Amino acid sequence: MTARPRLRQRRRGLLALAATVTLALGGLLASGASSPSRAATQEPCDIYAAASTPCVAAHSTTRALYAAYDGPLYQVKRFSDDTTTDIYPLTTGGYANAATQDSFCANTYCEITEIFDQSGNGNNLTDAPAGGADTGPDILANAAAAPATAGGHKVYGVNISLGMGYRDDSTKGISTGNASEGEYAVLDGSHFDNDCCFDYGNAETNNDDDGDGTMEAINFGDETTWGYGTGSGPWIMADLENGLFSGVNAGYNSNDPTTDYRFTTAMLTGGANEWALYGGNADSGSLATDYSGARPSGYTTMKKQGAIILGIGGDNSDNAAGTFYEGVMTSGYPTAATEASVQANIVSVGYANYTPAGDPFTSGAEVSIKATTPCCTSDYITGDYPSSDEVGLDAVTSSSSTTLKEDATWIIKPGLANSNCVSFETANGSGDYIRHYDFELYLEPNDGTTQFALDATFCPRAGNSGSNFSFMSYNYSAQYIRHYNYIGYVASDGGSNTWDASSLWYEDTTFASASALY
Ligand code: AHR
Ligand code: AHR
Repeated sequence: MTARPRLRQRRRGLLALAATVTLALGGLLASGASSPSRAATQEPCDIYAAASTPCVAAHSTTRALYAAYDGPLYQVKRFSDDTTTDIYPLTTGGYANAATQDSFCANTYCEITEIFDQSGNGNNLTDAPAGGADTGPDILANAAAAPATAGGHKVYGVNISLGMGYRDDSTKGISTGNASEGEYAVLDGSHFDNDCCFDYGNAETNNDDDGDGTMEAINFGDETTWGYGTGSGPWIMADLENGLFSGVNAGYNSNDPTTDYRFTTAMLTGGANEWALYGGNADSGSLATDYSGARPSGYTTMKKQGAIILGIGGDNSDNAAGTFYEGVMTSGYPTAATEASVQANIVSVGYANYTPAGDPFTSGAEVSIKATTPCCTSDYITGDYPSSDEVGLDAVTSSSSTTLKEDATWIIKPGLANSNCVSFETANGSGDYIRHYDFELYLEPNDGTTQFALDATFCPRAGNSGSNFSFMSYNYSAQYIRHYNYIGYVASDGGSNTWDASSLWYEDTTFASASALY
């Protein structure tokens, strides 16, 4: 990060200009005019700096959070040769160069090893170590799990599923004790669960639960043990340790709404006996104030320790899921007007869904799915094969029996756990779905449980071989549908099951779509 000293200088020069633009933005918001265009001369951290609540940590795999930032955004490691590469913005202050990742990671698996701090404080996020709640180091995120577009450019977010998490226990500039801070994160509002704890923000430096008030992080999910708001969730809450708070009360607070925009802005400000939660659509409009007022009882004097967590709780509780695109921590208590300006900047990004080119896996479509490994290019993913209720690879042709053709044809349904992904219903009339159980694929009826929905949801992604398609497991996002000895599994590259073998992993997890055989 040799660029840092120069960046600091350039940033100082921008302050006066940024202050002027912030005023102009405030005017736009007040008049209800549409959001400013993307030619922003300032980014979120320029806005915070101009308001004297500067970023002390700034993390994003999608874009620069300072207009003058041209350093690395994140680092990926590929499994084929254990080497790493850094992903930079396309231009100074611009969007991530995802093409670097795509070419570096073709024909192998890549994980996100580091998310660089753009603030100059070196508060980079890396693999979370063991903590009071779970052993570590945590699993790292699949670098290809969360494609999106930002400003029309393909980018990747950080998809956290079971066992994954990032942390920095040795930070610089992060608020401690009762000192004020601000935090925001742009998240996937469709990706959440009711486990503990998908958080971003301030936490304990020893990876343990050190008691009430020893952390202060944004929490996102529909975990109701400690706190919740209206509707069925997810809610934007504050993880203050031994409690997720949706307002001043433990439990229910009627002002905290379910907030589940595909791209959701979540904000938390924490000061001396005052704090606030804001939430809204990262793609349009302004923020709702979900809470603003006094601290909950028992949390009036905070004992923040200043570590940074992403995707886990303070004690390394790492069961929760969520997706992160960008976020910052500030020192000082950002005003509502400053947060409104930052929201306007986020909206100007125009975050959108990314689907792989030619993706035929759309709701209602009927498709057959062909293997691409040289062994098996006449074989299709087939239900009730090799035996009843299993899913494997079988050779099917136009002269095969009707039963076999039905078993090798899939009706694409909105994903049972997330409609941005898919579920595969067999065309054999039974109504059964492909689900994984103990990491093997089975054809089973939907029993209506959350577990079934999770196990039967797969996200079509660009093929791991660089072409065609791969199907990521929704609840184990380091794993993809794979055939191994003609049997179907979900498999990670080089994991502990025999079918995780690295040999042929990227070929076996890559499939071609074909016209429905039935
Ligand atoms: O406050 C909720 C969770 O409780 C914290 O994230 C974790 O440290 C503890 O288990
Ligand atoms: O297939 C992996 C896991 O095995 C599934 O999520 C669960 O249903 C079973 O325990």
